[in-house]
Amino acid sequence: MYHLNLDIPGFVRHHWQKKPLFIKAAFANFQDPLAPDELAGLATEESVSSRLVIQRKGQWRSESGPVTDFERLGESGWQLLVQAVNHLEPAASELAACFRFLPDWRFDDLMASFAAPGGGVGPHIDNYDVFIIQGQGLRRWQVGDKGDHKPREGSGALALVEDFEPLLDVEMGPGDLLYIPPGYPHCGQTLTPSLSYSVGFRAPSQQELLCQLADQLQETGTGQKRFISDSEPEQASLISGDHQQGLADLMIQLMAAPSTLRPMLGTLLSQSRFELDPLPPEEPLDLPGLTAALEQGKELMRIGGLKVLQLEGDQPGSLYLDGHHWQLNTEALALPLRERTRLDLGSLTPLLADRADSTSLLEFINLGYWYLE
Ligand code: SIN
Ligand code: CO
Repeated sequence: MYHLNLDIPGFVRHHWQKKPLFIKAAFANFQDPLAPDELAGLATEESVSSRLVIQRKGQWRSESGPVTDFERLGESGWQLLVQAVNHLEPAASELAACFRFLPDWRFDDLMASFAAPGGGVGPHIDNYDVFIIQGQGLRRWQVGDKGDHKPREGSGALALVEDFEPLLDVEMGPGDLLYIPPGYPHCGQTLTPSLSYSVGFRAPSQQELLCQLADQLQETGTGQKRFISDSEPEQASLISGDHQQGLADLMIQLMAAPSTLRPMLGTLLSQSRFELDPLPPEEPLDLPGLTAALEQGKELMRIGGLKVLQLEGDQPGSLYLDGHHWQLNTEALALPLRERTRLDLGSLTPLLADRADSTSLLEFINLGYWYLE
């Protein structure tokens, strides 16, 4: 449904994580994955993460969702932002899948927003990479250079920055794409009522990694080795440089060991930051039921936002899914489950013959991670 016109090797070499890029008509004949009233409907739900940013006389103010009253907002100066629309809307998930030339573990979510003329979130800096896709309507985007940008007074939780000198100043229409790496100030201003999509990529911080490691060590009772020295400092009150290094090495050895590192990364990186929307069948599905549905031409769809990852070096058949490790019998099932978001009878026939693997697949379906369509 969506095709991204992008020189991927060139982009990864010259722009990814380095420099902003604007691409006119990156998506030909772009169709919005959802309508403004559908987006407004999602924003009324408690379980959906949404917010409203209202701009009046050059001052921005944010209200967190659910958002129920749109009447009061008028015709200009506001923007509605809804996170993780890819979890809820299959077409949004297909749009996000155009960016799978980047690893799934880095993907955060697809945020959709509707903005009235004059609406925007104000000049700001993100600590993640974002691809902004323009849907219906027109927006002007300015992107400045990295540097020491002063916080904008009175912008509070919105953490805006002062106006900046633009490196890029573009008017975006349907199907245009803007890539902004972390650290570059940017600001979108809405010219006509507009839908736009932000596909975000985010790597974990040291704090997130180390908290995950600590949780894992506690859960598994591992990491019990202690420091042993071969020399002691002369001063009793001193923690010597050698001892500091020895203690640091003890931590590094533990966290760099594949038996610690891989489950830690698999668990952390296969979790989505936003709630998933599992779709279990009304009645638990069994193997004859699954086979019959596939034979009728139905396909098995992965729910939007579910990450299915493999750690290089792990055993064949290993996968991490929604923060849990699964060891499948064969790579024949694990590989298509990780790589593809849609599976038909042809791709599933050989592995339905493997009893253990078909049992695992049914378990995934009955948990609502894949559904028949
Ligand atoms: C927006 O659409 O204005 C917000 C997206 C962003 O700045 O990252
Ligand atoms: Co931004």
